This record gives sequence, C-alpha cells and structure tokens, in this order.
Amino acid sequence: MKCEVALALDVESREEARAFLERTGPSLKWVKIGLQLYTRYGPDLVDEIAEMDYSIFLDLKLHDIPNTVAGAIRSIAAFPVSLLTLHASGGPEMLSAAQQERNQSAPRLRLLAVTALTSMDADQLKAVGIDKTPVDLVRQLARMASGCGIDGFVCSPREVTVLREDLGPDAYLVTPGIRLPADSPDEQKRITTPADAAKAGANLLVVGRSLLRADNPAEVLATIQQSLAP
Ligand code: C5P
Repeated sequence: MKCEVALALDVESREEARAFLERTGPSLKWVKIGLQLYTRYGPDLVDEIAEMDYSIFLDLKLHDIPNTVAGAIRSIAAFPVSLLTLHASGGPEMLSAAQQERNQSAPRLRLLAVTALTSMDADQLKAVGIDKTPVDLVRQLARMASGCGIDGFVCSPREVTVLREDLGPDAYLVTPGIRLPADSPDEQKRITTPADAAKAGANLLVVGRSLLRADNPAEVLATIQQSLAP
C-alpha cells in the first residue's frame, strides 16, 4: 500500500510558511493547512500554496449543525483543496449532509472524518463524558462515518490496523501522531514512528513538529520517505 507524507504547516506567518517549504525541498507533495494559518490568512494562503504545486489538505475539522457544515463545504468547493476534515462526532446527519454536498458541489474533494483526536487518551475522553477506550471510540465513529458514505478517516497510527480490518482496503487512512524515535511526544498521546504507521497500512502520514523543528527538514523528510517503502 502506498504511503505518503503531508507536512502539517503549523507556523506563524506566510513568510515562515514559504521559507519552510523552500527548505523542505521538492519531494514533498502534500501540505496540510490547519487552523493556525487558515484563521490568519484564509483562502488567499490556500491559493498561494496550491500555486506552488502542492496538493492541499485543509484541516478545518468542521463540527456544526448539518446545514452549516454543508454550507461550508459549498464555499470550500471553490478552493484548490483535495482533502478536508470534519469531526465524525458531529453525528450521522451532519456527515450525510456533508457527503451529499460534496457529491453535488465538490466531487474531487475527499472528506476525512476525524475520529478521536490523537491528543485524547482514556482520561481525556472520560473528562468529556465518553466512557470508552480510544480504540473503541475510533472504531465506532469510523464505522458510522463509513455508513454515511465517507471513505477517508483520521485516526492515530495505533488504530490503523483495526480500522483497515473493519473498513477494508479502499478506506483512506490518515494518521497524525507521528514521531521519530528521538522526538518528544509533546501533548500527543497515541503516537508511533512513520515506518510503523506505514507497515500498519496508513495511506497518509501527517507530520508536523518532527519536520518543523528539524535543522535540516529536507534530510528528515527523505529519511521518513525511505522508511515508508513497502
Ligand atoms: O506537530 P504534530 O506532528 O503533532 O502535528 C500534528 C498535526 O495533525 C496538527 O496539525 C494537528 O492539528 C493535526 N491533527 C492531530 N490529531 C488529529 C487530527 C489532526 O494531531 N486527530
């Protein structure tokens, strides 16, 4: 199974974003634009980075009533975006409305249902009233999203194997929570190395701080990419 890397471009400014992409070099295909840059610059920055020939993963983690989420997807349909996240915990009505809107106005956009954030462990889940292990919650949310027609899922690398079993070979599995052996986990709880995530069957690895903090991000990216070969 082919496994690729998406850079989580969580930086302060567009200048920093451009400089970092230059240092990372041409082997990067996917750039994930998340809340930090999007809330500062909006669609302009999406256009700017897409024009540099990257595929864009817009990580807005939509979570609202069905009508509002469908409206957001109609707006995003005009953007050069390939992947868009929404929270599976928004429920089946929200997910079905999102998928329907995607089919109508953005057929080339793939929706990714975020299951449980990789920063959540059993204690964090309990604190928000969910008395389940992360893996049980991830499986339940992914099955529910799949039933609404969604075929892309965000989970931690530790859940890739069971989701692959549950959802089959066509599910597109995206995993943040990636760290190199020497890295700090930071606040992420359910982490693994790029090689282990690829072996488990992930399709796209989201890598942020392991690249952003590297002295030589091009070299670290090359090392990660080499470790993904099947
Ligand atoms: O720096 P790090 O590699 O931890 O970055 C992970 C990225 O993946 C962040 O941009 C974060 O917003 C995103 N993410 C996550 N957990 C999810 C979904 C997205 O960490 N479940």
